[in-house]
Amino acid sequence: MNILEENDFVRLYTFIQKKYGINLSKKKQLIEGRLNSTIFAMGYSDFSEYVDFILTKSTQKDIELLLNKLTTNYTYFMREKAHFDFFSQNILPQLVKTKKDKVLSVWSAGCSTGQEPYTLSILMKEFLGKEAPRWDTRVLATDISQKVLLQAQKGAYPEDSLKDMPSEWVRKYFSRVDNTDQYEVTTALKSNIIFKPFNLMDPIQFKIPFDVIFCRNVMIYFNQETKDALVDRLYASTNQGGYLIIGLSETINKSTSKYKYVMPAVYRKI
Ligand SMILES: C[S@@+](CC[C@H](N)C(=O)[O-])C[C@H]1O[C@@H](n2cnc3c(N)ncnc32)[C@H](O)[C@@H]1O
Repeated sequence: MNILEENDFVRLYTFIQKKYGINLSKKKQLIEGRLNSTIFAMGYSDFSEYVDFILTKSTQKDIELLLNKLTTNYTYFMREKAHFDFFSQNILPQLVKTKKDKVLSVWSAGCSTGQEPYTLSILMKEFLGKEAPRWDTRVLATDISQKVLLQAQKGAYPEDSLKDMPSEWVRKYFSRVDNTDQYEVTTALKSNIIFKPFNLMDPIQFKIPFDVIFCRNVMIYFNQETKDALVDRLYASTNQGGYLIIGLSETINKSTSKYKYVMPAVYRKI
């Protein structure tokens, strides 16, 4: 087994932290364990050579392979359901009353394989019912990983993963893929999601500010400084009265953030 020397470890985690916000400074063992066979299979003789490559010549694809090894894209339908209930029962009724332009701008930031943005889109359609065609309910769904975005765009999920969804939604918004246990999101629902690669460390320059930003279980990897700076950028991209929803195990700095606390993991710009 190759040893990850301290200076290579520091070079690697500093690079990842600066560029992608992900804090791996306490994950030496994890890096060693997860990358050992990969770097050997890729033809590098040791970690030092691999770290040199990453820092000087790597492409976005090389970095992505690395991040895929070291971080998790874990997600599932109806994760932290309380947020979806709050979205349907509190946020949507308010927005529908106040948005004269009939545009609901919703962003799933760190969308992984798509379960979150598809659910948000379903919730909007269900809430609006017959009125839905009169509203712009497109969801922006972004992630740093092209790999998960491709899976998200494909929108095919094992039957078992839909078990927590109301069966009526499965009938309306999914169709079974012949001779498999997979269910695929309907074309109509897929066309309601705009999937885009986006690094949350970059300036946020989307066309319009958002009424609701779901950024759940993404900042777990970020250190406080990176998190605070991201929350500031998210705040600047939130409409007045709009919401930021983070993961239930995450916190934002209540003393420095301009968002007002609403309930666990739910914040508002007021
Ligand atoms: C654990 S998943 C969360 C998925 C979903 N939001 C949920 O709560 O189930 C975290 C996602 O954040 C993405 N991510 C991590 N760092 C990122 C960054 N700097 N910019 C954009 N996405 C990032 C990962 O690729 C991963 O897909």
